[in-house]
Amino acid sequence: MTALGRFLAVEGLDGSGGTTQVALLADALRTRGIEVLITGEPTRTLPIGRLIRQALRGEEPLSDGVLPYLFAADRRDHLDREILPALARGAWVISDRYMASSLAYQSLAAGFDYVVALNGRFRHPCLTLMLELDPSTSLGRVASRGEQRERFEVLETLQRVHGAYHQALAWVQEQGAAVAIIDASPGVGQVQAAVWAAVERELLS
Ligand code: TYD
Repeated sequence: MTALGRFLAVEGLDGSGGTTQVALLADALRTRGIEVLITGEPTRTLPIGRLIRQALRGEEPLSDGVLPYLFAADRRDHLDREILPALARGAWVISDRYMASSLAYQSLAAGFDYVVALNGRFRHPCLTLMLELDPSTSLGRVASRGEQRERFEVLETLQRVHGAYHQALAWVQEQGAAVAIIDASPGVGQVQAAVWAAVERELLS
């Protein structure tokens, strides 16, 4: 299957505003007449994604050793059923989290090289947008939402994930895929402008 559309992934620590920025970017692209599929991982409607979300909420006692396989399997299913067909019909796909999330979060339990081995054959995004936030700000934003905390949302874990994210992004770039690091600490509008500037620079010019 030849992919004609463009594939973008938005990454960042919990609370970095990815979901908001994905929606704003999709709106901006649609006003240019581009068909956009908004999606994300763990998937919400596919079976492995649903199982992962149950595990992250503590409803299903799956260990950290199991998660790297589930995230990789969910990604493969997501590619097969949603991402690649959309790209093939010429749509742009924006995924709220993708491979770099596994390289960052799962490498804590499984080791970086092992997570690369599980994910290394998957298609790379044309552009990975990293919404950069320091771990304590991330945790503060998550706490202020007042939701139940998920498995990774404690400071020490987020600090380690943050370090692994940067290793992940360096690896993604070594594979020849573009990465843009965006400061996610200012207000929504400023972050949105920086995201748009990166998309224009990398994909529209
Ligand atoms: P998140 O984007 O925070 O979901 P929600 O939309 O419910 O806020 O993703 C849930 C968690 O999953 C988040 O803490 C990061 C984690 N995650 C991984 O550990 N590995 C992965 O490969 C992906 C895609 C997400």
